[in-house]
Amino acid sequence: MKVLWSGRAGRGLDPALESFNSSLPFDSRMYEQDIKGSLAHAAMLRGQGLIDEKDFEAISGGLNSILDDIKSGALEFSKSAEDIHSFIETELTERVGDAGKRLHTARSRNDQTALDLRLYLLERSREIKAALAELASAIMEKARLHKDTIMPGYTHLQRGQPLSFAQHILAYAFMLERDRQRLDDCDRRTAVSPLGSCALAGTTLPIDRFMTAKELGMRPCENSVDGVSDRDFAIEFCSCAALAMVHLSRLAEELILWSSLEFGFIEPDESCSTGSSIMPQKKNPDIAELARGKSGRVFGDLMALLTVMKGLPLAYDKDMQEDKEAVFDAADTALACLRALALMVSTMKVKTERMLEAAKRGFINATDCADYLAARGMPFRDAYKLTGELVRECAESGRSLDELSLEELKARSQLFEEDYYRAIDLRECMRKRSSYGGTSPASVEAQLEILSKSALFAGEDFQDAPEDSPL
Ligand code: ARG
Repeated sequence: MKVLWSGRAGRGLDPALESFNSSLPFDSRMYEQDIKGSLAHAAMLRGQGLIDEKDFEAISGGLNSILDDIKSGALEFSKSAEDIHSFIETELTERVGDAGKRLHTARSRNDQTALDLRLYLLERSREIKAALAELASAIMEKARLHKDTIMPGYTHLQRGQPLSFAQHILAYAFMLERDRQRLDDCDRRTAVSPLGSCALAGTTLPIDRFMTAKELGMRPCENSVDGVSDRDFAIEFCSCAALAMVHLSRLAEELILWSSLEFGFIEPDESCSTGSSIMPQKKNPDIAELARGKSGRVFGDLMALLTVMKGLPLAYDKDMQEDKEAVFDAADTALACLRALALMVSTMKVKTERMLEAAKRGFINATDCADYLAARGMPFRDAYKLTGELVRECAESGRSLDELSLEELKARSQLFEEDYYRAIDLRECMRKRSSYGGTSPASVEAQLEILSKSALFAGEDFQDAPEDSPL
């Protein structure tokens, strides 16, 4: 293998170690970022008089032709290159001769690789943000349709209180909104250029790091050693992806449970279900199961990165080449899961009848019964106890709370009146929970409004939430 560092090295790397050493099979996906960084670097070199106009033209022409050829497939990544940086530099020199050899003035692969990864992750972050918005839109669409759809809200996976389906799924939209905010925040620290840190100590040459950074939409890092050895941004990216995957795995789990015959709250569309090779009746929610399962990979990616970086002495160490596969996998996986779940949510059928049936059993209006008594002057603890006794009585006689007669109720407390039945009516129970953030249709409406103005839909780049937004 022809290597860039063949000056000092005599015999070169044992061929058996070439593929062990090479990162090209995975870092080739950063070719656009590598070329973008080189173009900015070359423009700065010219601006500072470190290369002349002719060399700059040759370099930029060469780099752009390489970009075109990689994109069109005319140029393939040769197995023999050590990484994407040496591949492109070698190819450039083959194409434009000596000018190509000047590109690496005041640069090292150490600052180059750190820059490429930053540029690459900023791109992926943009895609993930768009996918977060896509899934949130699918959820919000369903929420708009189901502000009045009653389902049992659960704690401990036991029926607890009446909830609208809208209120339940909007919880996920708010999780996604926070995922978006976290990525925006991570991006701010990723958009920092290490270029000009060179190998580790900066350079004796009169470069302008601010100029290169500005060209790339970044600011320069303040310390060259930190510039080449910092991978916090990659860890933060993985951690954002991991937390988003926690959210997706919870949503996926509920979609799986709800698709079961036992719940029957939703029916996944056929386009999002698979069958069994032996059981003809099966319609499996594989898509959600995969999203749930793939969360494990992303947590693993985060752990891998933390472990690679732990205890590494400054500045660059080759261990850091191991950052890429983990963070690439985290990005790919999160993106694929977001898109898959967006499709599943937008196409699923919500079975409102089944939800209502489930809501009618399990005494989920018991709190409302206790509240009814408390509002009429009974101390809440006593109201709680009396309601508990009514629930036990109903459970024993196979009835629900609204099937108790007024005489039976009055025998327990004179506070009960005809309006009790309305107070424990499920729809009424839901409508009355109009506290800020509660499940009432008006509150759901307000939440939809807040979400639609949130960072989720602010476009690709970060914008602060509007003044009047609570987010
Ligand atoms: N391929 C390396 C990486 O991914 C970049 C080059 C490292 N620099 C060096 N001096 N070996 O981290």
